[in-house]
Amino acid sequence: MKASSSPLRSFGSDNHSGVHPKILEALVAINQGHAHSYGEDPLSHQLEKEIQRLMPLAHKTFLVFNGTAANVLALKVALKSHQACLCSEVSHLNLDECAAPERVAGRKLIPRPSHDGKLRPEDLEESIIRRGDQHFAQVRMLSITQPTELGTIYTLEELKDLREFCSRHKLMLHIDGARWANAACFLGVSWEQMLQAADPDLLSLGGTKNGLMGAEALIVFERARELAEDLRYQRKQLLQLPSKTRFLAAQMLAYLRDDLYLEIAHWSLDRAQELEQAISGIEGLHLQYPVQSNALFVQFPKTWTKALRQKYFFYIWDEQQWVARWMTSFDTTSEDIHNFAQELRQQSQKERSL
Ligand SMILES: Cc1ncc(COP(=O)(O)O)c(C=O)c1O
Repeated sequence: MKASSSPLRSFGSDNHSGVHPKILEALVAINQGHAHSYGEDPLSHQLEKEIQRLMPLAHKTFLVFNGTAANVLALKVALKSHQACLCSEVSHLNLDECAAPERVAGRKLIPRPSHDGKLRPEDLEESIIRRGDQHFAQVRMLSITQPTELGTIYTLEELKDLREFCSRHKLMLHIDGARWANAACFLGVSWEQMLQAADPDLLSLGGTKNGLMGAEALIVFERARELAEDLRYQRKQLLQLPSKTRFLAAQMLAYLRDDLYLEIAHWSLDRAQELEQAISGIEGLHLQYPVQSNALFVQFPKTWTKALRQKYFFYIWDEQQWVARWMTSFDTTSEDIHNFAQELRQQSQKERSL
């Protein structure tokens, strides 16, 4: 088959990178013999234990095919049809799941304005209204994203504040952790420390964006253990019960063992910070948010787009302000960064010489 003539390198998404070699090795290594299916295989049992090692309060892990499914399942199982979930207005849940939370889970989202992607209790307070009013969907959950969709990260104190807010208002707390490992890496803390601060009911634990071929997990914590029973059935009903579970479990296991998740998170964060450094001082570029994960949001002159796009793929995140999202991943190299920055510098110089 002829290779496609796609751009050489992409800063479009961490989904654009391939599969980390160690994950592929793990898949090949287990591709022999027979094993039980639907989560009854030895690797799925091992994964359960591995998750509990990293997150001692994890009660049960449910592997699913993608991050949207993990989020939608969380809402479906934790909320009743008359209950609602608060989330940030820029959350993936609200903007990028094609209304699956509403369509598939049948749950109401209440998007709230965020600050650099982060929600604060004081901005959420005013949504806690009309308790017991049969005409009004009852707020019963808060969903936050760590790291946020804007690449920013809640500190442990901010997580504790949100936990306190949830406890005060009897809300469940869901975390969309599509890039969860990156947050711990930036904060320099363990997963357990982040979880002690947030004490969530449910976590969508991502893998695909951090080098897996395709595996995500919805984790139910002890405080919400009663949800696990329903989840067994709901996952099947929502078409997310993989048959050959061992191939998803093998990816997650390889990712979690021997600190591969740390290695990948460090690498992609380092490359993002390297890009930040490399483009600082280039006239015409305006960084929008602090670089705390593997993404940079940068406003730049629209006129540069065509030339840049001939060599690199990336998305325009905000078409009004012309802000691009540039993402690094486990296989972004320092050479990629250097070349991209060089290209941006040339565009800037060209414009100034006109
Ligand atoms: C923050 C966040 N949550 C969830 C998802 C959903 O992942 P998927 O595309 O696997 O459904 C994404 C994907 O980009 C994401 O960025």
